[in-house]
Amino acid sequence: MERTLSIIKPDAVSRNLAGAILNMIQDSGLTVVAMKMIHMSKAQAEGFYHVHKARPFFADLTAFMCSGPVVVSILEGDNAIARYRTLMGATNPANAEEGTIRKRYALDIEKNSVHGSDAPETAAFETAYFFSNLEIVG
Ligand code: CMP
Repeated sequence: MERTLSIIKPDAVSRNLAGAILNMIQDSGLTVVAMKMIHMSKAQAEGFYHVHKARPFFADLTAFMCSGPVVVSILEGDNAIARYRTLMGATNPANAEEGTIRKRYALDIEKNSVHGSDAPETAAFETAYFFSNLEIVG
């Protein structure tokens, strides 16, 4: 069993797509073991994306991520990290495959509707960034 962090980003929440995206996640067989809606501050978004601090898109990315509410959740399942990344599709929706969340809903490389952890170490940091053990079921 593995856990990964999912964020349904402001572009998707503001278009009322959280339910449709959660349906895709649950239909894929991943189990939601924690979930909440939050509106991040700039500092919270910067802390979450600190690994991208030196990237040219860091300021835009963190401004976007605190522009409105997001739905954060922890997904559990065998190989959950890789399975969720496959379900999300490529970071740039122009390159995303049919049937993926980003192909269906993402607007561009920044407003790409969802985030998922990319490795066990980042999943551990990211799940702990938003959730305490008391907020995780199972
Ligand atoms: P995410 O999986 O949340 O991780 C970092 C985010 O940076 C990524 O999704 C994109 O939404 C965003 N981003 C914005 N511009 C770029 C870019 N040029 N290359 C990669 N990621 C970008």
